[in-house]
Amino acid sequence: MKIAVLKETRPGETRVAASPDSVKKFVAMGASVAVETGAGDGARFSDQAFRDAGAEIAKSGVDAANAADLVLKVQRPTRAELSYFAKGVKLAAIMSPHAEPDLLGAYAGAGVDAFAMDLMPRITRAQSMDVLSSQSNLAGYKAVIDAAAYYGRAIPMMMTAAGSIAAARVFIMGAGVAGLQAIATARRLGAIVSATDVRWAAKEQVESLGATFVTVDEEAMKSSETSGGYAKEMSADFQKRQAEFVSQHVKKQNIVITTALIPGRPAPKLLTEEMVRSMAPGSIIVDLAVEQGGNVALSQLGEAVDVDGVIILGFANVPGRLAADASSLYARNLLNFISAFWDKDAKTFKVDWEDDIIKGVALTRDGKVVHPNYANVAAAEPAPAKDAENGPQG
Ligand code: NAI
Repeated sequence: MKIAVLKETRPGETRVAASPDSVKKFVAMGASVAVETGAGDGARFSDQAFRDAGAEIAKSGVDAANAADLVLKVQRPTRAELSYFAKGVKLAAIMSPHAEPDLLGAYAGAGVDAFAMDLMPRITRAQSMDVLSSQSNLAGYKAVIDAAAYYGRAIPMMMTAAGSIAAARVFIMGAGVAGLQAIATARRLGAIVSATDVRWAAKEQVESLGATFVTVDEEAMKSSETSGGYAKEMSADFQKRQAEFVSQHVKKQNIVITTALIPGRPAPKLLTEEMVRSMAPGSIIVDLAVEQGGNVALSQLGEAVDVDGVIILGFANVPGRLAADASSLYARNLLNFISAFWDKDAKTFKVDWEDDIIKGVALTRDGKVVHPNYANVAAAEPAPAKDAENGPQG
């Protein structure tokens, strides 16, 4: 059983799908691992570190993928990368299937059995394979660090002989995985932290981290969560009242970090231009939802925008800004996924197509798009490469 790890080619992607640690474990399980040279450069994992862990270093992606049974990637393959996948090969990656539905047909047409790690079901057994959680957690932390770096003041209260500095007020919108880590990080830095969410369960989690939970309507929150733990889209009336409430709260904040997402929908718009302009010059806003359309009016993907002294940070691929940790955790998610379906006798990845985890993540199989959410996409001839394509999250 040969596992191939390719160097990421999408612009701005710094992560890699394996770490020396995960390679060592795959080798101990009886797999052979080929890592494309330079694959770990962005995460500072050298070819030598992968070699020491037991990998063979391949001089190109074509060589790494040659005769591979399973390819590991961070981002879904571009058409250029797809050209060196053999028919029948398995692939595990963050597939972002909604971003380029045409590509799904191309993967099926190429005979690749693709597993979308970003569709991992949120069941207890799959927690250690949940890439959205592992990456969002780092993004939440980094959002606070980025905000602190752009903020022209200190975050904690300081009492000095020359006078006192007030603690920064930090408001976190969306208290899921990223938001909770942002709250914890801002608290550790000494900020006065408040947070909001539309899910009832978030209130207790926010308060247990020492932040104040603020909301416009507790009753409406009690029915706002799906059985999968995600937020539903709120009614127009709730959104209107939320906006009025937020406009009062936001103008007293120094830093606002927005993380709100609704699966399969554009990110909810939470901060209007008027709210942005109501903040004092020197305030910082971090829009972690910018790749899904953004929570903040005027935020720009990949940019720091200055709106009359209020800086809106819209960095792309925030987990990739902590490439070593993001890669290590992602590699561990992949290792846990593959280990769960490892046939110890045959020393192979043996897919149980009836397992709930596999049903959740299987996108393509035997030349067809099989995931129920994308079943209308037909298999297509993998068109000639026209890369490089989109940025990190497409
Ligand atoms: P997410 O990334 O989809 O959304 C981020 C947050 O935005 C969520 O908390 C959501 O409620 C909130 N939000 C949506 N619309 C909003 C609005 N209009 N205003 C304010 N906030 C809004 O969610 P994430 O972080 O992936 O996880 C959500 C929850 O899923 C977690 O808190 C947890 O309870 C559950 N979860 C379960 C896991 C498991 O059992 N394996 C793993 C990870 C999370």
